[in-house]
Amino acid sequence: MSNENEFIVTPWEVKGKIDYERLIKDFGLQPLTNELLKRLEKNTGELHFFLKRKIFFAHRDLDWILDEYEKGNSFYLYTGRGPSGSTHIGHLIPWVFAKWLQEKFNAKLYFQITDDEKFLFKPELTLEEIKEFSYENILDIIAIGFDPNKTKIFMDTEYIKTLYKEAIKVAKKITFSTIKAVFGLNESSNIGEIFFTSLQSVPAFIESIKQGKNIPCLIPLAVDQDPHFRITRDVAPKLGFYKPAIIHSKFLPSLAGLDKMSSSAPQSCIFTIDKEEDVKKKIWNAFTGGRGNIEDQRKYGGNPDICTIYYYLYYFFEHDEKSLKEQYENCKSGRLLCGEHKMYLTKLIIDFLKNHQRNREKARNIIDKFILRD
Ligand code: TYM
Repeated sequence: MSNENEFIVTPWEVKGKIDYERLIKDFGLQPLTNELLKRLEKNTGELHFFLKRKIFFAHRDLDWILDEYEKGNSFYLYTGRGPSGSTHIGHLIPWVFAKWLQEKFNAKLYFQITDDEKFLFKPELTLEEIKEFSYENILDIIAIGFDPNKTKIFMDTEYIKTLYKEAIKVAKKITFSTIKAVFGLNESSNIGEIFFTSLQSVPAFIESIKQGKNIPCLIPLAVDQDPHFRITRDVAPKLGFYKPAIIHSKFLPSLAGLDKMSSSAPQSCIFTIDKEEDVKKKIWNAFTGGRGNIEDQRKYGGNPDICTIYYYLYYFFEHDEKSLKEQYENCKSGRLLCGEHKMYLTKLIIDFLKNHQRNREKARNIIDKFILRD
């Protein structure tokens, strides 16, 4: 990480300016090609802007999932959350996309809450605190609008009777040297950390176990979670299951610059529970691609390619392609000033959060419809 071309992407650390092309090569992913997008569109009738803008940019075996689907062999979805704090807008990207996939493919969804993971990997957190975050995060998940008849959410510690006997089958096929190589864990890592990936693997075949026959699984996630599923995909055939397919998103950057948004720097990300005042302050202080003063901005224009305001609109808040393009051009030409652009984004965020927070309150009454326990 000493020079600016270096970056780190692991499930526990994302740092630096990420080169997604290089990540495709380093991780051995397939790029999401226009041809594959056309095929998706044939099945869904339209493309989500996450796809049009290549925010979801890579995959593993998505073509196979579509082959199976077109043959009448439908798939289920699996995604998750590690409950170590409040939900931020970045987390919502794979979830909003999972909801879109659920609707378009009429797919069942398993949503794993890895409370065990956060307990094992975060020395400062107690199980009680994590339980509280789990509950709060589940409200955000339900607020997205998943179909209660097709969506099951479970916390690892509460669904462990079902999960454990499958997790040990996975664990038996993974060596410590694989874990060291994939995650960089070592002799001083606690032994729970070393075991954990076995539990994150299980939901990738849980529907096959329940139905007693192989059911394809598609996992929407941001690319930091891919290393777990590289292992899952190695193990799956050894246990007689299909390898899960994956679709990978990029990271919504931090408001402080183009690094990944992180809940450990609260001023640099928008949380779903933020109040209007928080949003105004955070957006006002955000890093932009603007010039030092209005005269220079009008004369030379700004740089949207490094601007977090533009990125927030691009990744999540501006759904209209034409308007987004105009904003890009108006910023570059100096017609649009940073202050105006910040006000525009602030309004979109506040409107979104009002609605999300309303749905979050309603979720308290229907949580039991979603939860799996054993
Ligand atoms: P967690 O809680 O770190 O993240 C939840 C989901 O959000 C994605 N993500 C982001 N996406 C876009 N922009 C960002 N800035 C950003 N930050 C995080 C993550 O990739 C993830 O998809 N171990 C997992 C929980 C888990 C899981 C899964 C995730 C269990 N099973 C299956 C995905 C798929 C975790 O701690 O995620």
